[in-house]
Amino acid sequence: MGRTIVELDHITKSFAGIKALDNVHLDLQEGELHALMGENGAGKSTLMKILTGVYSKDSGTIKLLNEASDSLEEVSIRTPLQAQQLGISMVFQEFNLLDNMNIAENIFLGREPVDSKHCIDTRKMYADAKKWLDKVHLDVDPKEKVSELSVGFKQLVEIAKCLSFNARIIVLDEPTASLTDNEAETLFSIIRELKANHISIVYISHRMEEVFELSDRITVFRDGKYIDTVDREHFNEDQIIQMMIGRKLQETIPRGEAVIDQNDVVLEVRNVQVYKRSKPVNLKLYRKEILGIFGLVGAGRTELSRVIFGIDPIGQGEIFIDGKEVKI
Ligand SMILES: Nc1ncnc2c1ncn2[C@@H]1O[C@H](COP(=O)(O)OP(=O)(O)OP(=O)(O)O)[C@@H](O)[C@H]1O
Ligand SMILES: [Mg+2]
Repeated sequence: MGRTIVELDHITKSFAGIKALDNVHLDLQEGELHALMGENGAGKSTLMKILTGVYSKDSGTIKLLNEASDSLEEVSIRTPLQAQQLGISMVFQEFNLLDNMNIAENIFLGREPVDSKHCIDTRKMYADAKKWLDKVHLDVDPKEKVSELSVGFKQLVEIAKCLSFNARIIVLDEPTASLTDNEAETLFSIIRELKANHISIVYISHRMEEVFELSDRITVFRDGKYIDTVDREHFNEDQIIQMMIGRKLQETIPRGEAVIDQNDVVLEVRNVQVYKRSKPVNLKLYRKEILGIFGLVGAGRTELSRVIFGIDPIGQGEIFIDGKEVKI
């Protein structure tokens, strides 16, 4: 393992009197991928927003490796720009790119290269953008509008932008949440390259499988509290889940034990069309059943739920509850 590059200690943060973080700790080593895990609301994003200058902490210290003196020194990070200048960048759950601008304009927003007449040096801007895009193996024209890019490409542009700030530390907050499997694989190979270049990564994810594939160490938070930091290779998924939920796995909801009576249909969706020209959706939900609806972004899951919930009008098709047709 490398040197410690950043150390957050005794960090506490409240929102309107409610403690989102209570005396938590996190340290990162050079070239490591450190997974930050915990259930929803555990405080993962909040701590990373403190590290990247989006939120201010109520108390605690942040120490950063000073290359010159080769020692950890306390820093105060008040704005995202300050964090970026210290080499700390974050790709947010909700991306921060401006759709109506092109890739290069997004990468250099607010710090565009200028020529001797104080005009934006577009030639240099596009050439530099190309250089950073190459680092994430993104073969696109920097003049292309961000709105034209797939989610996976947008994310790589975000990472290229982090690199353009000479980031030493990159925080990825649920980076695969809306990626296809192929896009996620591309991201993983970029992540491995970043690590090989001594960049440290904080990786927030609920997906156990990818955490175990990628991480060196795992830190677990629960309800705003620090639980532990462990070496990934000495732990298994069940142990991590146990740390996250604070009890043994067996005590979670038993599954597959309910006897489902196929005559007892609670909800039926018949021939509901979610998008114009899409195939109609049919489903039956039996009493005591948990029915999963799966699909990628844009597949129509949310749209279907909205129709069932009466938020959007039902164009075509019918909904039955306990066998009776309803108009919701
Ligand atoms: N801006 C805010 N204002 C008020 N409360 C907030 C704010 N941001 C976070 N919180 C609260 O702080 C706590 C920690 O939230 P946080 O978003 O850090 O959790 P998380 O671990 O990132 O969860 P998730 O896995 O759902 O992203 C939650 O109770 C949340 O409601
Ligand atoms: Mg979060």
